[in-house]
Order: sequence, then structure tokens, then C-alpha cells
Amino acid sequence: SLARKTSTASTSYLTRRGFASGSAIDRKVAILGAAGGIGQPLSLLMKLNPLVSQLALYDIAGTPGVAADVSHINTRSQVLGFAGEEQLGKALEGADVVIIPAGVPRKPGMTRDDLFNINAGIVKSLCTAIAKYCPHALINMISNPVNSTVPIASEVFKKAGTYDEKRLFGVTTLDVVRAKTFYAGKAKVNVADVNVPVVGGHAGITILPLFSQATPNGNLASEEIEALTKRTQDGGTEVVEAKAGKGSATLSMAYAGAIFADACLKGLNGVPDVVECSFVQSTVTDLPFFASKVRLGKNGVEEVLGLGPLSDYEKQGLEALKLELKSSIEKGIKFANDD
Ligand code: NAD
Ligand code: LMR
Repeated sequence: SLARKTSTASTSYLTRRGFASGSAIDRKVAILGAAGGIGQPLSLLMKLNPLVSQLALYDIAGTPGVAADVSHINTRSQVLGFAGEEQLGKALEGADVVIIPAGVPRKPGMTRDDLFNINAGIVKSLCTAIAKYCPHALINMISNPVNSTVPIASEVFKKAGTYDEKRLFGVTTLDVVRAKTFYAGKAKVNVADVNVPVVGGHAGITILPLFSQATPNGNLASEEIEALTKRTQDGGTEVVEAKAGKGSATLSMAYAGAIFADACLKGLNGVPDVVECSFVQSTVTDLPFFASKVRLGKNGVEEVLGLGPLSDYEKQGLEALKLELKSSIEKGIKFANDD
């Protein structure tokens, strides 16, 4: 099936060389927040990606060390480190893909929305620079709360006159990665064969895995599906609690971020049938942004795919998430326009 082909293709660079995916084309990737918990392992994984010719690692501090370290790896890309706001423009200039894991992570007891006060301002200033230095780049937004930071980015770009809805992505790949892992464990199927779309947003009940569409079919009971759904929705909190004050998911997020950026690069390079879930501008529901399967192409979003058939349980989940998602989107839009 298409989905299966996509999943195999999207992990190929971690396991074998990808000669058919455009590895002769020059592509610059910039990572903003590259010295952080996600940023460091993500820098490593992007250094392993043969589609990248230049890797720009930016943070407010610490990036000279990360860049020197990663640059010694004998793979294709040239690595440069940039530290401090005065170097942000150079980091961004000419970037094809900008990945943003800059901002504070959760501690136990916090929601992702509790990060809004700090991260909204960080995202706003980084997006202002993106509009100036690389207005055509694909943006992979990791910073939380994604349900609000993506709308903030859209408003900043609109004000700058550079907004293109095809180029702005909220990274929800970690929800898909978790849904696949948890489903394979419960259904006792090979995890490498599993596909599960995850739609909605990226916080609590706004994360809606569609296990009724999971392949291969595991014939799970409805209580098992409900438990898997809750575990996927609470996956981030599971890690936050296990880390006990030392932050949130970094390693699994770096993996997920690398998979999503690789899909963006493949799309840019003209590889057909690249499909990943992402939180994008959407008409799939009545909300202005929504995560669903997206086909990636030379201009970013080629097609926002529909939800497909939902079970009654998923239909209820969809209705239940709309209020929270709507208010998180509106909060982001309002923030970006208040000044
Ligand atoms: P971290 O604190 O370890 O790293 C964040 C980095 O951002 C730091 O190095 C910091 O210096 C940098 N930073 C802060 N302000 C900056 C600015 N203005 N410009 C550039 N860099 C700046 O945090 P982390 O664990 O790497 O998490 C980062 C963010 O990713 C958090 O908001 C977290 O909630 C989010 N996250 C999202 C997902 C997802 O699925 N989308 C998953 C995990 C974490
Ligand atoms: C995650 O899903 O792991 C991230 O959004 C980080 C968090 O705060 O849970």
C-alpha cells in the first residue's frame, strides 16, 4: 500500500543509502535551538541524512561546541555553528528547511499550554527573522504548545507578507511514532510494518490516533483501543514524569523530527508519494489548523488528505477535541497580533 511504501522510504536514510531520493541536490537545513535536549541529537541525526548538504546549528549559546563535535562525522553535509542573535541571519540565509526546537520544556504537573508565556515570544522572534532571511523555507515547528506556536508563526509571516500555508508545519510525528510503537506492542505485530494516522493537534485530548485505520489489523478489543488512545495522548506526560523535572522527550523527539524533516526534503526533491501526518492550515474540519495526513512535494504541502472513515469512538474524540484546539489556535493568533 501507499502508506506502507511511505513509511519504509521515510526511515531509509537511517538504515541504508538513499540514492533515489535526490542526494545530489544541495539542501540547507537550519536547526534553531540546536544546543538543547532535542537540538543536539537532532543535529546528529540530520548530519547522518545524505540529502543535507549544509547544516546550520543555531542557539543563543553552546552551538560552537555542538557544531565542532557533529562536524567531525564523515558524512556529506558541511556543518556550521551560529550563536547569539547577531548570527541568526547567517544561520537562516539560503535554508530550505528550518527546524525549530527552541524553547522551554515541561516539568511534572505542567501542561504544554503552561509553556506559552515563554515560548510564544521565542517563536515570534525566530519567525520574524525567518521572514527576513529565508522566507521560502519549509518550517518544521517543534516548540510547544504546537497548537498555538504554528498559528503564531502564520500570523508573523502574514504580517511580513511572506506567509505561504504550504510551507508551515507543526511537527506531530512523535505522536505517530508513539502510536505505532504502542499499537505494535499490544497487537503483537512487527512494529516496522505498522501504520497509524494521528490527527487533531499536539496536546492531550487534541491528539487523536485513528487506530481503526491501523495496519496491519490487530483485531483489538474496544477497551484495548481506548487504552492505546489514552497512552498515546499521555505519551509526552509519561516521559515528563519519568524524567522527574529534567525535561520532556528529547531522544524520541529527535528521531521523530529527523523523520519529518527527511520527508520534507524528499518532497522538495521530487520524490513521489511522501505522506506524513502534520499540523497544518486545513479545511479538513471547521478549524483553521488541523493535523492529518499530508502529501509533501516540491512546494511543501502538496495535498492535505482527509480523515478517512472514523469509528464512533474516534468521532466522539474528534468532537471532544475541537473546543480546546480552537481556543489554543485563537490564543496564538491573538498573541501574534497584540503589540
Ligand atoms: P531544552 O531546554 O533542552 O532546549 C531548548 C533550547 O532552545 C536551549 O538550548 C535554549 O538555549 C534554546 N533557545 C531558547 N531560546 C532560544 C532562542 N530565542 N533562539 C534559539 N534557541 C533558543 O528543551 P527541549 O527538551 O529541547 O525542548 C524544546 C521544545 O520542544 C520545548 O518547547 C518542548 O516542549 C518541545 N517539544 C515538542 C515536541 C513535539 O512533539 N512537537 C516533543 C518534545 C518537546
Ligand atoms: C511530547 O509530546 O513529548 C512533547 O510535546 C513534550 C511534552 O511536553 O510532552
